[in-house]
Amino acid sequence: MTRIVVLPGDGIGPEVTLQGRRALVCAADRHGLALDFEEALIGGASIDAHGTPLTDEVVALCRDSQAILLGAVGGPRWDDLAVDVRPEKGLLRIRRELELFANLRPATVFPALVAASSLRPEIVEGIDMLVVRELTGGLYFGEPRGIDRNGPHRVARNTMLYADYEIERITRVAFESAMRRRRQVCHMHKANVLEVSQLWMEVVGEVAKDFPDVALDHQLVDSGAMFLVKDPRRFDVIVTGNMFGDILSDEAAMVTGSLGMLPSASLGEGGVGLYEPVHGSAPDIAGRDVANPLAAILSAAMLLEHSLDAPAAAQDIRDAVAAVLDAGHRSADLVLPGERRPVVGCTALGDLVVAELEARA
Ligand code: IPM
Ligand code: MG
Repeated sequence: MTRIVVLPGDGIGPEVTLQGRRALVCAADRHGLALDFEEALIGGASIDAHGTPLTDEVVALCRDSQAILLGAVGGPRWDDLAVDVRPEKGLLRIRRELELFANLRPATVFPALVAASSLRPEIVEGIDMLVVRELTGGLYFGEPRGIDRNGPHRVARNTMLYADYEIERITRVAFESAMRRRRQVCHMHKANVLEVSQLWMEVVGEVAKDFPDVALDHQLVDSGAMFLVKDPRRFDVIVTGNMFGDILSDEAAMVTGSLGMLPSASLGEGGVGLYEPVHGSAPDIAGRDVANPLAAILSAAMLLEHSLDAPAAAQDIRDAVAAVLDAGHRSADLVLPGERRPVVGCTALGDLVVAELEARA
């Protein structure tokens, strides 16, 4: 039996992971994979139940599993808490404890959704990029950190810190991914200001020597952000640190039409992988069955591919999602202003994907 841990989290997390799990079970079943699920708390839900955003028991449960399907964490109820006890800390801790340093965020555009982008169709058609974000280092984790309130002025500090081996291993993931794609890597940095970025330039350049077939380009992150909206199709693989990757991956996601469509995988050296939609907990629409479950469903596809070695089952899910969109079904986030189209709820969209999966075996 393959053990999958589901961490639904907060906001729309529970509703979308439920649909992700249904699609996962259906696709796995059709390919002869038996899955065994354990559900546990993370984020605000865990704070409410246990006073901490992630318990040691849940970390142990995740360590013992093959893969984790996660929803989202956070919401206004916990916004007043200090940084180190907020829901987000649970997510950061699980990434760090399992050393999930490689965050893969593919941004592709489904043909049926080209019009949903805020950019013109001719700019959007055919976008197919992969943001490879370093996930366990940099500004998010560097010490010292904190707010000092003792002097005449309140002073806050965070530390951006990377060791060469951390840069090297994420860069290798980026180049290996590029070898399976269009063989281009764009490293985004701020080396005109930051020493950390200068070290990235050095190490990325060294790793590139092992991949003579891959074209490498270094791009300042500010102009890179600009090119992402000007000409997103020029990008194949983007590799960058934790903070820049957080920002650029939302941007990359949005140019494809909706943040509600983008899945992600967080991987370490072998071992367990964590899969989650890139969108957040969207507390404003939680519990109303209107959220878009497709990013969670596509995260289940990434889980099948990267953790269960079942690329055909993963492809079934992607094909099923494309077929549902081609048939004209849209969740609220995908309906254009002024467009007259019935809106499909979260459960109903999950039903459609499952029906599509069942029809194709
Ligand atoms: C993401 C999110 C998280 C991050 C938050 C919720 C801590 O924005 O996965 O992109 O910043 O990494
Ligand atoms: Mg983010």
